[in-house]
Amino acid sequence: MKQKLLDYLRCPACSGTIRLQVVNASEAAEIMAGELACDTCPQKFPILRGIPRFGAPETIAADKAATAENFGWQWQHFVQSDELYADQFLGWIAPVRPEFFQDKLVLEGGCGKGRHTELAAGWGAREVIGVDLSDAVETAFAATRDLPNAHIVQADIYQLPFARVFDYAFSVGVLHHLPDPRAGFRSLAAKVKAGGHLSAWVYGAENNEWITRFVDPVRTQFSSRIDRRALLHLSKLPTAFMYLATKLVYGPLNRSEVGARLAQRLFYNDYLNAISHFGWREQHTIVFDHLVAPTSHYIRREDFAQWWRDVKAEDVKISWHNRNSWRGFGRI
Ligand SMILES: C[S@@+](CC[C@H](N)C(=O)[O-])C[C@H]1O[C@@H](n2cnc3c(N)ncnc32)[C@H](O)[C@@H]1O
Ligand SMILES: [Zn+2]
Repeated sequence: MKQKLLDYLRCPACSGTIRLQVVNASEAAEIMAGELACDTCPQKFPILRGIPRFGAPETIAADKAATAENFGWQWQHFVQSDELYADQFLGWIAPVRPEFFQDKLVLEGGCGKGRHTELAAGWGAREVIGVDLSDAVETAFAATRDLPNAHIVQADIYQLPFARVFDYAFSVGVLHHLPDPRAGFRSLAAKVKAGGHLSAWVYGAENNEWITRFVDPVRTQFSSRIDRRALLHLSKLPTAFMYLATKLVYGPLNRSEVGARLAQRLFYNDYLNAISHFGWREQHTIVFDHLVAPTSHYIRREDFAQWWRDVKAEDVKISWHNRNSWRGFGRI
């Protein structure tokens, strides 16, 4: 944990300011072990392996803990990086472009292995703070610790330990895994200062009926409950189908002028074309990610639009991404 993070931290219980009470170990700019304490109430929060910890496991409800446990495993296994992450991220947060990050104080809700925290830091954010509830923070910290403007915090998106100071907050692929996605969205929006901006990307209900009807029962009753190493191997089978389809059919067709017209008629074309650029490992990550999640909501456009109205966002732009998900951007 870098000392300057203290400027932004607030007690999740009482919003009091946070002080660095004990430092047990530091390495270069990072406080690796120690304790944070609230100035107002008796709450204390450990710093372990360089990360301030605000989500003590015993305080987390079982459904959230199960989600965090599975994703924690996932992001400690799939630690690879991919040069396509930047374009993929820009697709999720469109119309935001890299220049938008310049000098902004940025919060990421649910940073996973930290790939977007890292990009935001590289695109010139003044500071970017990636938050995740799961052990994924270990991977995220390792990926970003050398960046002077990146910070990783372990905390629950519902109880974010920050002041309302952010110029921009974003959340990609996280809210739909929460027991109450709308409440998670509100919690994130509540940390954006007036006039700041917010981006969110969620699974859509529209065009995903095949998932909710056929894949969801397998996910909820089987794949999210089995041993994760077993799922790692089992998920190679659907990955193989997807990989062959994208590499042999969707990718080549979409990249030829005549084929592209034909491809428009293929099942789930926009999405499968988008991921056809990825190699085996990334496609395996995507399949595993879908199957490991204990909770996934598929959100209708109208419901998503209501989230933005709830927080009184202005100039909201909601758009359909790959014809299977919703992305939104607005001013708070
Ligand atoms: C599908 S991953 C996406 C990670 C990252 N945004 C990315 O795109 O690489 C969902 C992430 O949400 C995190 N998450 C789930 N519930 C959370 C909660 N209540 N608070 C904070 N993070 C949470 C998980 O631990 C996981 O890392
Ligand atoms: Zn407090």
